[in-house]
Amino acid sequence: MTRRRQIYEGKAKILYEGPEPGTIIQHFKDDATAFNNEKKGTIEGKGVLNNRISEYIMGQLNGIGVPTHFIRRLNMREQLVRQVEIIPVEVIVRNIAAGSISKRLGIEEGTPLPRSIIEFCYKNDELGDPLVSEEHVTAFGWASPPELDEILQLSIRINDFLSGLFMGVGIKLVDFKLEFGRHWENDLLRILLADEISPDSCRLWDAKSGDKLDKDRFRRDMGGVTEAYQEVAKRLGLLKDIQDTPDNVVNIATGKNKDET
Ligand code: TMP
Ligand code: ASP
Repeated sequence: MTRRRQIYEGKAKILYEGPEPGTIIQHFKDDATAFNNEKKGTIEGKGVLNNRISEYIMGQLNGIGVPTHFIRRLNMREQLVRQVEIIPVEVIVRNIAAGSISKRLGIEEGTPLPRSIIEFCYKNDELGDPLVSEEHVTAFGWASPPELDEILQLSIRINDFLSGLFMGVGIKLVDFKLEFGRHWENDLLRILLADEISPDSCRLWDAKSGDKLDKDRFRRDMGGVTEAYQEVAKRLGLLKDIQDTPDNVVNIATGKNKDET
């Protein structure tokens, strides 16, 4: 592999300098963490699956006019994206109670929410990504009021679109996390959807059985994590692309072709 400058290594991804100015390569690892790094592990094949799933979802969103950082997939584990200045706020959209909202407010998991709820968390590992309000976001200048408006509008559109997309393949979109960034095009500043959308960042439940098809299987030691991610890729019609890569020799678990193993 050619030497590239690494910009950042996160829990699930590595960012490298891209081939052209203003671009970044996102490399998807199999590593997984949960509960702010307390729990660590690897999920075989996760990077390959998330790279493809996120490519597909970002592509679909681009198609309805949601601006995203995604440019193109480069290989099994990497995609080329536009460089953005990440807004340090995680936007969580919820349709059904699960996870932290269930704990915090004592709502049984699986209870449909009266309407979709958007929450914000301040991206800060040391503080454990605390829940904050819109007031905090604008008062501390993490995003300006117009930026926050844009983020809210985009998040609602993304939720409506993805809820339909997943329901079409028999999956309930319970909740998910989004990240946005600022991108300059000449002198024009734009907000782009960034990071990834994958079973790492969404709760996805089988519409019939209620089976969890997401990272909760890892967080809660339920087993069958890779299989769940594969099922999501399969329902979206993506599993064949992952297996049928050049020479049909890519191992889905490792994402390596026979020359690399
Ligand atoms: P939560 O119920 O733990 O707050 O998670 C809500 C959604 O956001 C869930 O789909 C998982 C996703 N999420 C992330 O992608 N990264 C995170 O750091 C957290 C806390 C949640
Ligand atoms: N990825 C986050 C962490 O490592 C939280 C999570 O997804 O549960 O803490």
